[in-house]
Amino acid sequence: MRTFYRGSDLSRIQSVAEMAALAQRRLPNFAWEYLAGGAENEQTLSRNQSDFSDIRLASHTLVPNHRPVINARLIGSKSALPMMIGPSGYNGMLWPQADIALAKAARAKQIPFCLSTVSNCSMEQVREAVPDVDFWFQLYALKDLRASQDLLARAKAVEASTLVITSDALIVGNREWDRRNFVRPRQLTLANKLNVLLHPNWIRQVMWPNGLPTMGNLSPYLPEDEKSALGAMKFISEQLDPLLDWERVAQIRDQWSGNMILKGVLHPDDAIKAVQLGLDGIVVSNHGGRQLDGALSSIQALQQIAPKVRGQISILLDSGVRRASDIVKAVALGADGVLLGRATLFGVASGGQVGVTRVLDILEEELVRCLNLMGVKRLDDLSTDHLYLSRS
Ligand SMILES: Cc1cc2nc3c(=O)[nH]c(=O)nc-3n(C[C@H](O)[C@H](O)[C@H](O)COP(=O)(O)O)c2cc1C
Repeated sequence: MRTFYRGSDLSRIQSVAEMAALAQRRLPNFAWEYLAGGAENEQTLSRNQSDFSDIRLASHTLVPNHRPVINARLIGSKSALPMMIGPSGYNGMLWPQADIALAKAARAKQIPFCLSTVSNCSMEQVREAVPDVDFWFQLYALKDLRASQDLLARAKAVEASTLVITSDALIVGNREWDRRNFVRPRQLTLANKLNVLLHPNWIRQVMWPNGLPTMGNLSPYLPEDEKSALGAMKFISEQLDPLLDWERVAQIRDQWSGNMILKGVLHPDDAIKAVQLGLDGIVVSNHGGRQLDGALSSIQALQQIAPKVRGQISILLDSGVRRASDIVKAVALGADGVLLGRATLFGVASGGQVGVTRVLDILEEELVRCLNLMGVKRLDDLSTDHLYLSRS
C-alpha cells in the first residue's frame, strides 16, 4: 500500500510522487492540470510510466559496494549525473522566477539546464542570474521568421551550448482540460476563479502584485494586448510553425554553430534522418504525453531507435521518468541520459529551488542505491544484459 507524506517539510519528501502530491496541494486546479495533464485519454501519459515498470532489472549478487561512477556526457556537455532539466513553458505559473530557480538547482548539481522558448524569464535574465550553468535553449520554430532568427541570435549571444529543436509540437495537442478550465483564451471559468481564491499562498507568491508573469523570451515579438502569460498562450498556439520540416531544420543547422538536437523523435526512420542531417543528438520523447495520444511510450520507442543509430548520434530520452530506476533502464537501452520534465517541475511548484534540489537529491540517491543493488559499478557498464524486457 502507498501512503504519502502529507506535510510540507521538503526534506521529508521521499519520492517524486510525494513531491507531485505536494505540488497538487499548492497549486490552483488550472495550474495543476496544466502541469500534470496529457492529451485526450492520457494513454501515452500513463504508458510512459507503466512501460518503464514492465521492464525488470537483472542484478548480480556479492558485488562489493562502492559509490558507482554516475557522471555522463549529454551531447557535448559533461554532466555530474545522467540527467538534466528539460525545457518547459510557463514555469512562472508554478513559482516566482521558476526558470531561474530550476537553473540554479541544475548548476548546483552540475547538470545542464534547458530553457524553453515560452519561458517566463528571458534567456538573458537566466544567464545573468546563473552565469555558470550549462545553458541549453529550446526553440519552437515560429511562423514569424524574423522572430525565430532573433531568438537564435539571442541564444548565441547568451552562449547556449546546445540548441534543442522541438519537432513534435507543430500544432498543440488536444488538451481538453485546458479548454475546460477557460471560458475563452484569457478567461478562467468561475469555478476555477473560485478555486484560485482557495490558494492564497500561490496568489501571494505568483500573482501578487502584477498578475501572471509575462513571457520573457517572446515579449519583444508579442502584440501589445497579448503580453500577459494567458494572452501569450493564444499567440503561441497561432505562431507555432505547422510547416516546420527537415529542410527548415537543415537551414537552422547551417545557422547554428553549436550543438543542435531534435526533440520529439519516436520513429527509427526519423532518427536515421537526424543522423543524415548531421545533428548532434536526438531526444526520444512524446512531450510527456501532451501531444499525440496513442503514441509509443518513450522507453518503447527507444528500444526501436537505439539499435539503428547508437554510436552514430547521441541519444537522450524523456517522458515518464519518475524514479532513477527509469534512468537506469533508459541508459541500459542505449540513452546517454534523460531530460527531466514534470519530476523537477513538481519540485519547483512545491518549493522553488529547494524543491528542485530535493528532487535531484532523491534521484541521485536512488540512482546510487539502484546501481549498488544491481551490482553495477559504472553507469557505462549498463546494457540490455541488465534488463528482462519481456513480461514474465
Ligand atoms: C508543463 C509542461 C510544459 C512543457 N513545455 C515545453 C516546452 O515549452 N517546450 C518543449 O520542448 N517541451 C515542453 N514540455 C515537454 C517537456 O520538455 C518533456 O518532453 C516532458 O515533460 C517529458 O515528460 P515528463 O514530464 O513525463 O518527464 C513541457 C512539459 C510540461 C509538463
